[in-house]
Amino acid sequence: MTASISDQLLSWYDGNARDLPWRLPPGSALPDDPAWPYRVWLSEVMLQQTTVAAVKPYFAKFTATWPTVDALAAASDHDVMAAWAGLGYYSRARNLVKCARAVAERGGFPRTEAELRALPGLGDYTAAAVAAIAFGERAVVVDANVERVAARLFAIDEPLPGGRKAIRAAADRITPERRAGDFAQALMDLGSHICTSKSPRCLLCPLAEACEGRRAGEPERLPVKPAKKAVPERRGTAYWITRNRGADVWLVTRPPEGMLGGMRALPDDGWSARMDGSGTPPLAGEWRSLGAVRHGFTHASLTLEVLTLETAQEPAGEGGWWPVERIGEAGLATLFAKAAQIALAAD
Ligand code: ADE
Repeated sequence: MTASISDQLLSWYDGNARDLPWRLPPGSALPDDPAWPYRVWLSEVMLQQTTVAAVKPYFAKFTATWPTVDALAAASDHDVMAAWAGLGYYSRARNLVKCARAVAERGGFPRTEAELRALPGLGDYTAAAVAAIAFGERAVVVDANVERVAARLFAIDEPLPGGRKAIRAAADRITPERRAGDFAQALMDLGSHICTSKSPRCLLCPLAEACEGRRAGEPERLPVKPAKKAVPERRGTAYWITRNRGADVWLVTRPPEGMLGGMRALPDDGWSARMDGSGTPPLAGEWRSLGAVRHGFTHASLTLEVLTLETAQEPAGEGGWWPVERIGEAGLATLFAKAAQIALAAD
C-alpha cells in the first residue's frame, strides 16, 4: 500500500524542513510556554505578503524588544509602527498592537481556530496557521504556496478566485489529524522550494507520483490566475523641508486611518490610492525639485516628486524637526525612505 499524501509529505519534511527562527524541528512536542504562540503569531503576521528573508531581521528585532505578548501590548503604537517601517502593509502593524492588547487582556492566546479568528486583525489564514502550528489543532492552512501545491496535486483548473473553494476542500482532504502544524509548514516549504510557480522541480518532489497536475502535463499552468487588472497611476508630491542649512528636516505622523496610517513621514500634498495630490505646498517659498521616486502599492502605482525648501519658519500643523543625520532611525515607511534618499543624494 502506498503511504497517504500527508505521510509522504511529513516524511519529506522530517528530512528537509527549513530551519527558521520561529520554528521547532519537525516532530517536536509543542512547548507549554506563552512565548511560543506569541512567536508563531508574530511570524505569521509578518510572513503575510512578505518573504522569509525580509521577515528574519524584523522577527529578531521584535522578539528582542518585546519578548512576550504582554510586552508588545504595553508598547506605544508609535514605537511599534517605527519598528515595522520597511516591512510594508502597515495595517498589519496597527492590527498587531490591537491584537496583542486583546490577548494580554484575556490572559493569553486562545487555542482554537474559531477563537483566534475572533481576535482583532486575525484573518482565516492566520487563525488557522496559529491554531495548527502553535497548538497542534487540526486546521486547514491555505496560503499562496499551499494553494499552488493543492491546485497542482489535484489538477484544479478553475481560475482563481473561484477555484479557491475547490482548492480549500482539497487541502482539507489531505490535512492529517496529527502534526497539523508540521503538515502546514511542509506544504509551505514544498511550495516555496520545489513546487515553485514558474519551474516546479518535479524530479525532487515527494508527491510527484500522486500529482495529477504533473500527469496532465504543464503543472506550472496551475493554479490558473485571473487576468491582471491594471492599477491606476497616481502622482503626488512630498516636501523635504529643512532648517539650519539642511541639518534638520520636518517630519509628520500620518493620520491613524488611511494609507501608511500612523507612520512617520514627510509632509505631502494629500495623494492617495484614489486621487492625485493637490500640489499645494505647506509653506510659501522657492521650492526646488529633487526628482521623483516610484512606488508600487496594491491599488495604485505612485510617482512622488520630492520638492525641497530651506526655511526658518515652522510649517503649519502637527510635526517636528528631526536631525537629518539620524533619518535612518525615524521609522519612515519605504516610500518616504526612498524620498529621503533622493534628498540626501542631492545634498
Ligand atoms: N510563510 C508563512 N508562514 C510560514 C512558515 N511558518 N514557515 C515558512 N514560510 C511561511
